[in-house]
This record gives sequence, structure tokens and C-alpha cells, in this order.
Amino acid sequence: MNRVPTGVKGLDELMEGGFPEGRSILVAGACGTGKSIFGMQFIYYGAKQHGEPGIYVTLDERPDLLRQDMLMLGWDIRKLEEANMVHIIDGSIAKIGIPSEEEFSMPATGFDLDKLLLEIMRTSKRIGAKRVVIDSIPALGLNFQGEADIRAAILKLAYILMRLGVTTVMTSEVKEGENSFGKYGVEEYVVDGVVVLHYLGVGTRSNRTLHIRKMRATRHSEDLHPMEIGADGITVHKVEREYEKY
Ligand SMILES: Nc1ncnc2c1ncn2[C@@H]1O[C@H](COP(=O)(O)OP(=O)(O)OP(=O)(O)O)[C@@H](O)[C@H]1O
Ligand SMILES: [Mg+2]
Repeated sequence: MNRVPTGVKGLDELMEGGFPEGRSILVAGACGTGKSIFGMQFIYYGAKQHGEPGIYVTLDERPDLLRQDMLMLGWDIRKLEEANMVHIIDGSIAKIGIPSEEEFSMPATGFDLDKLLLEIMRTSKRIGAKRVVIDSIPALGLNFQGEADIRAAILKLAYILMRLGVTTVMTSEVKEGENSFGKYGVEEYVVDGVVVLHYLGVGTRSNRTLHIRKMRATRHSEDLHPMEIGADGITVHKVEREYEKY
């Protein structure tokens, strides 16, 4: 099976070289754990280092703010967009009913999953996308009535992305300490991999960790790895590194 380098320093070697190609991976964590940075790092390095075009669907954060945040990490997303290597689809503004200034966006008349899927398919075909990020899954569910609807929607999303042949990162918010990785109790089963980001907001030194909870078709580390968000994004460390300090 082909492997897709994640772009996250130190992560590929923990899972036989990267994500399994063409599969979906859920990145779960509480707020501020680095899910969006993880997603953009996957897209940025995919485009920049591996020549793989990527689509970033942003449902929570406005694209202009996202670009600004990423520029702080030294990632010039605009430049990659101009080169047709990255496309941001704005699904954030449709939810509040204000027209987007983005080239690729959902209509202001309201959020519509089918329209979003169509936009992903169209963009994917046009730029030859190999990577997709959906940030975030819970944000998709705003207009759904019941849990059954959102389950069906997530299944549909996963199926369509699988048919497109892209490798997908989906993000999901979970409360710290909760023993579930998706909000709707189906995400974690639909996807082929789950990466959990933790942030223990205590102490003075870095207290972020990353844990590969599952990765189908892959041998992977089962440890809780220290990670940091630095000037150039996320770096994951081997567990041994921790002991070296003592
Ligand atoms: N340039 C930077 N250098 C160091 N740390 C940073 C930098 N930029 C962001 N961070 C850290 O990353 C966190 C935000 O990361 P990110 O937006 O990816 O989190 P998230 O999990 O997507 O959060 P949310 O659930 O709110 O969407 C910040 O709270 C901050 O701690
Ligand atoms: Mg986020």
C-alpha cells in the first residue's frame, strides 16, 4: 500500500511512512489542540514538498483568518492557491447567511452538504487534488435534524472522498478526557485512522501529546507522544526523548 507523507515532523515514522493512500483519517482533540494546524500542515507540505494539490474545506474559521494564522507559521497559502496547488473552500459563511468574498464558497442561502460535495468534486477534478481536509466534521451538522441524518451525511462524505481517491483528514472536536473521538459516534468507525491530540493546560513546559488511536492496514506506535507547536508547525517527538532529560 502506498503511503502519504503527513508533513508533520516525526509522525510518518510512527506509522510505516505515512497515512495509507486514499483513506480518511480523523484528527480529534479539544479546542486549541492544533487540529487546524495539523490539517493545513498536511495540505501545505503535500503541495510544497510533494507536488500534490490539496483542498482545504473550512467550516469553522474564515479563510482570510486561516491564511493569516498560517502565515504566522511561515506558510504562504495564498501563493500556493495562485499556483493552483491549494484551494480553500469556504463553508463558514454560508452558515451565517453572508455572501463570501472567496472564489470557492457555499451559497449564502444556507449550508447544503450536497452543494459542498459537488464543489469538492468539481475542484478536485480541476486541480487534480490528492489531499483533502474537512475542518470540521461537527460543523457540518449544524442544519441536520437528528443523529441519523448526520450519520448518513458522514457516511456519504466518506464514500465520495473514497471514490475521488484522495487522502482525507477530517477534524473533530472532542472534550479532553472523553473516551470518544467523534461527536456523533460514527466518525471514528467510518474513517481508517484516528489521531488524537491532547493538551493538558497545566504546568509551564510543553504539555501537548499526540496518540495514534488506530490506523488500518498499518503497524503504528501506541504511545502517547510529546508534540509541540513551534514556529513552523507541529513536531512529534519519540517517547524516549522524554527520558533523556532525566
Ligand atoms: N505560531 C504559533 N506558535 C506556537 N503555537 C501556536 C502558533 N499558532 C498557534 N499556536 C497554538 O496552536 C493553537 C491553535 O491551533 P489550532 O487552531 O490548530 O487548534 P484547533 O484544535 O483547530 O482549535 P479549535 O478547536 O479552536 O479550532 C493555539 O491555541 C496556540 O496554542
Ligand atoms: Mg480549528
